Amino acid sequence: MKIEQSTKKSDDKLARYLSKDLHAVNNLIKQRMASKYAPRIPEVTAHLIGAGGKRLRPMLTLAAARLCGYEGPFHIHLAATVEFIHTATLLHDDVVDESPRRRGKPTANLLWDNKSSVLVGDYLFSRSFQLMVETGSLRVLDILANASATIAEGEVLQLTAAQDLATTEEIYLQVVRGKTAALFSAAAQVGGVIAGVSVSQEQALYDFGDALGIAFQIVDDLLDYTGQADTIGKNIGNDFRERKLTLPVIKAVALATEAERAFWHRTIAQGQQSEDDLDQALAIMQSHLTLEAAKNDALAWVAQAKAALVHLPPHALRVMLENLADYVVERIS
Ligand code: IPE
Ligand code: IPE
Ligand code: MG
Ligand code: MG
Repeated sequence: MKIEQSTKKSDDKLARYLSKDLHAVNNLIKQRMASKYAPRIPEVTAHLIGAGGKRLRPMLTLAAARLCGYEGPFHIHLAATVEFIHTATLLHDDVVDESPRRRGKPTANLLWDNKSSVLVGDYLFSRSFQLMVETGSLRVLDILANASATIAEGEVLQLTAAQDLATTEEIYLQVVRGKTAALFSAAAQVGGVIAGVSVSQEQALYDFGDALGIAFQIVDDLLDYTGQADTIGKNIGNDFRERKLTLPVIKAVALATEAERAFWHRTIAQGQQSEDDLDQALAIMQSHLTLEAAKNDALAWVAQAKAALVHLPPHALRVMLENLADYVVERIS
């Protein structure tokens, strides 16, 4: 499969529509990342937050709230909460994955150290909880606390599944549902909850975020093999080096010849990798068309995400959310 980096940014329209709210979210984030006693906290946080990021998750919260007619102030708090949780998980994730680049810059673990990333990540998690308490809604606390626990569960499950060639697509789905989709679904759901939507619409928002998050992570995993470092702002080949069984690899292991099985055993199970092995892994996946197969799985999740939107009120934002779902996979085509 020939993969070119897309310059199309279908999330731009949504960002423009929500620009006033997003501005308020950014201000709240800046205000709450401060620390009276520990200057390392705003240093590390400003480094990561200042590097940008797509702000997809806070946009989901804002869009859901607006789409459901919310006019109060707390969708801003919730969107900031969600981005704080995301930022905390990125700090921790880059330590766990020993990643050198994020958002086009060296990671905090590289610039400072693992200790700073872990501790500042903890601080941001706690700040996120303070922010959501301010909404006064126990229901959103329940949803976001659950999501935080589920993210951690997903990351730990991934840790124990890494290097294991017996990892199935079912386990992979459990991992991505946890580490990534849990925050997408919670972000969309709490936007609706704060707006007081019906149970069925709340479920539709959850379902949209869940399917979108799964598609998003499948694509992120494809880009880890086929993307361009400058476009995605991260290094390529990290998952292979970390011996992670992502979807195109799981599919290739299932179809492997004897020689290929020996290759996966050496590189993934035993972790003996040399310089050409990443290219070799890519060639094997290409020969079995597993990159295409994984992309098709992502497209099916996008279709499922869009189907969930049907239960929500017709609105310009609903169309933008549909386009956002397409954009998630357009990143690789
Ligand atoms: C990165 O998420 C972590 C994953 C779930 C793959 P994003 O790609 O949304 O990160 P930023 O916020 O835009 O940098
Ligand atoms: C990120 O997973 C998920 C979380 C941050 C919880 P990855 O490790 O696959 O994402 P990147 O590639 O580092 O962004
Ligand atoms: Mg990572
Ligand atoms: Mg990771």
